[in-house]
Amino acid sequence: APIRPFVVAIDGPAAAGKGTLATALAAHLGLPYLDTGLLYRTIGKIMADRGWDLDDGELAGQLAGALDPEDLKRPDLRGREAGELASRVAVHPQVRAALVDFQRGFAATPPGAVLDGRDIGTVICPEAQVKIFVTASAEVRARRRTDELAAKGRSVDYARILDEVRERDARDSSRATAPLKAADDAVVLDTSTLDRDGALAAALAIVAAKRAAV
Ligand code: DC
Repeated sequence: APIRPFVVAIDGPAAAGKGTLATALAAHLGLPYLDTGLLYRTIGKIMADRGWDLDDGELAGQLAGALDPEDLKRPDLRGREAGELASRVAVHPQVRAALVDFQRGFAATPPGAVLDGRDIGTVICPEAQVKIFVTASAEVRARRRTDELAAKGRSVDYARILDEVRERDARDSSRATAPLKAADDAVVLDTSTLDRDGALAAALAIVAAKRAAV
């Protein structure tokens, strides 16, 4: 019988360390990695560049349906601005629907994949063998983001970053379509008191436990 692709779904709020963890986990497991936030960031950025209305769900959905994977390599997608734009276009059901097939296709390709986002375990890959909901307190996430930006030589105000983190949480959690929430069968991994290595070790232990149970 064909081997079922092994899928690891990593979800959680902004700045919880999902990307870092998912990248390390994918390398350890020898699986490809898809940062699904990049899809929404790309759409938000293209809309803004073209001066299009971010609240126009139809238009955003058409753009999402015609997305060129090459666009995901743009250099300006990682910053806070693109994150904000992403969060705004991500509320549109037309956008989310247009991106489902791409994400599922990526996950279904042997040997499987690690995907990170907000709705991977709940909507995109409900059959994923492993679901991890990565979280940390808003204060810890704001502190990490502030330190990250400071390390890049940017002067940033912790209080402002904390406001942004809370605002983004509220928007991502309260939207009608595929809101941010842990799947019933996800393991919650709180990284508030863990460093990178600690978070990776905890995630690998979760994967090992699930693999043993399959
Ligand atoms: O993970 P990130 O910071 O790159 O995500 C940016 C925004 O994109 C986030 O605020 C919400 C949205 N997003 C989403 O709605 N669903 C996903 N699977 C990934 C990201």
